[in-house]
Amino acid sequence: MSAVTPPAKGPIGVFDSGYGGLTILRSLVEQLPSYDFCYLGDSARSPYGNRSFDAVYTYTLEAVQWFFKQGCPLVILACNTASAKALRTIQQKDLQKIAPANRVLGVIRPTTEVIGQYSQTGKVGILATEGTVQSQSYPIEIAKFFPSLEVTQEACPMWVPLIENNEQDSEGADYFVQKHLNAIFSKSPQIDLLLLACTHYPLLRTKIEKYIPAGVKLLSQGDIVASSLVDYLNRHPEIASRCTRQGNLQFHTTDNRLDFDRHAAHFFGSPISSKEAQLGDSCC
Ligand code: DGL
Repeated sequence: MSAVTPPAKGPIGVFDSGYGGLTILRSLVEQLPSYDFCYLGDSARSPYGNRSFDAVYTYTLEAVQWFFKQGCPLVILACNTASAKALRTIQQKDLQKIAPANRVLGVIRPTTEVIGQYSQTGKVGILATEGTVQSQSYPIEIAKFFPSLEVTQEACPMWVPLIENNEQDSEGADYFVQKHLNAIFSKSPQIDLLLLACTHYPLLRTKIEKYIPAGVKLLSQGDIVASSLVDYLNRHPEIASRCTRQGNLQFHTTDNRLDFDRHAAHFFGSPISSKEAQLGDSCC
């Protein structure tokens, strides 16, 4: 009789197209300090925001397979674009074939479960990448939890390239921030809550705050996703018991690691040291 291999134990995987997921990882580490985390940024292929459905799905699946090879029992897609375009197919089709005991979660569902609590006017604005907006994931998911909430979306395709190129404090950033805020408030002037529905956007928070009308709240996702993960681990001891807990953090990038380390520190809030990872045919 052949022995049954026990499911792997390892760190929780956290994935983004580049640096943005580090804003989520920061909150995860704050709320779950004893857990081990393994971060991967696909910086070589970032940004994902204006790529096709197929490209985002293929890249995200390659990343998920890479995490499973590292022994991660649970992967968080800390990227709205990947959550919008790839998560459902991976959960419903691929997981069963590649690692049925493992789990992959995203950032859209936890956000839409609570977003209605933050608005008084019942009118919320979603600032996101082109891909997230086109997927309609936010309006569809919000309607399940807060059916009377009026949702207005605005795609901000220049924001991620500005941030990835360290231009978030430049005059160019002022121009593009104002442009998209003007656009969303002219579509729906009574919005009182703006969701930063891209994990890169917290880096533009100071600029955004400069141009929003008084009384409008800005919501970012880090704390929401972290609280939701705490709850998930409490409800799923079979997964929690496979997540190792020594407080270790590892960082990986698909691009040059020195460039990644220099830039990533802004997002994570403290210095990091990454390793290079290869995705695709050469990895799995
Ligand atoms: N940070 C990602 C998100 O939350 C994606 C940015 C991009 O690669 O365009 O959508």
